[in-house]
Amino acid sequence: MKIATIAAHAGLCTDGVTGAVSTPIYQTATFRHPALGVSTGYDYSRTINPTRQAFEKVIAELENGQRGFAFASGMAAITAVLMLFSSGDHLIVSDDLYGGTYRIFERNFQQFGLTTTYVDTSNLAAVQKAVIPDKTKAIFIETPTNPLMKITDLCEITAWSRSNHLLTIVDNTFMTPYLQRPLEFGVDIVVHSGTKYLGGHNDVLSGIVVTRPLELSERIAFIQNSTGAVLGPQDSWLMLRGLKTLTIRVDKQQENALKIASWLSQNKNVKQVYYPGLPGHPGHQVQQQQSSGFGAMLSFRVQNAEWVAQIINRVKIITFAESLGGVETLITYPVKQTHGDIPVDIREKIGVTDDLLRLSVGIEDVDDLIQDLEQAITGKE
Ligand SMILES: Cc1ncc(COP(=O)(O)O)c(C=O)c1O
Repeated sequence: MKIATIAAHAGLCTDGVTGAVSTPIYQTATFRHPALGVSTGYDYSRTINPTRQAFEKVIAELENGQRGFAFASGMAAITAVLMLFSSGDHLIVSDDLYGGTYRIFERNFQQFGLTTTYVDTSNLAAVQKAVIPDKTKAIFIETPTNPLMKITDLCEITAWSRSNHLLTIVDNTFMTPYLQRPLEFGVDIVVHSGTKYLGGHNDVLSGIVVTRPLELSERIAFIQNSTGAVLGPQDSWLMLRGLKTLTIRVDKQQENALKIASWLSQNKNVKQVYYPGLPGHPGHQVQQQQSSGFGAMLSFRVQNAEWVAQIINRVKIITFAESLGGVETLITYPVKQTHGDIPVDIREKIGVTDDLLRLSVGIEDVDDLIQDLEQAITGKE
């Protein structure tokens, strides 16, 4: 089955008793046992709940993985993955990535003895140089990165990490399985902030882990059940509901994003545009090889950092807010929002500077969006 069909059929007719077309919300913490030693297969909702199970099944199918796991947020999903490691282990991590992921490495897991080296994972030589023999256990990649849209060659990196017995973990939030399926390139674990494109409506938090090898599925299943940051039944249902329109939303979003990126790159008030769909983007070709689209996230630098406040204050159709992937276009100021917890020197070294704005392009009429940006940048209505 093609991705659009799998997505549209998310949670379809899972209840064999009533024939309900939409998966019911099984709002229950526990399940009655028919007799001592007999189970319906459902014992307690932290371990398994039918609504969450329907969502986990479809997300595994979409990512072409062995098993899917739903968590209360993207950060809860990443936490579960990091629990695979032990004190003394070292991970190589994309240097330009969501600030919350940087924060969890530095502020939560460092105290348990997990160490990290941040490198540009689009540069294999830099990744190879970061290896600490006997300590490095995995590589954690965002591609495209947040917010500078650097592209890592998944084929090249997994060939190398496999031959060095390292796990490869990819945060596939920006692309979604509609556009990119990292497990098919030999990646071991995919994580998502399901809050973003998969939910798609800025109304639900969720996180996802999808695993390929059975051994990893079993370990994540244990971590999910024992630590318990699972997605609740109502939110699992909202995710199923959102997934149904994933492909048409993303089609429209990326069509809009390409038009906006092209318009911004012709604008004399804009210094630089970061969008992998532009032919001049350094990762354009690799992205074309490993994905079926370029997504709808883009960043741009304005000529003068002092204009940032006026742009943010003047937008009318575009909303100034954190997050991304919803049907509404959002503008984000990474230095103050998504990347506010990264020390200034590190942030500036990787290029997350105070002249940079990020757009998550929605499904509105693109002419309205361009007009809104034009008036916000120039101050002319
Ligand atoms: C790429 C990426 N990964 C993970 C997360 C964390 O997800 P959540 O906010 O659902 O915890 C985010 C949040 O912005 C993100 O952008």
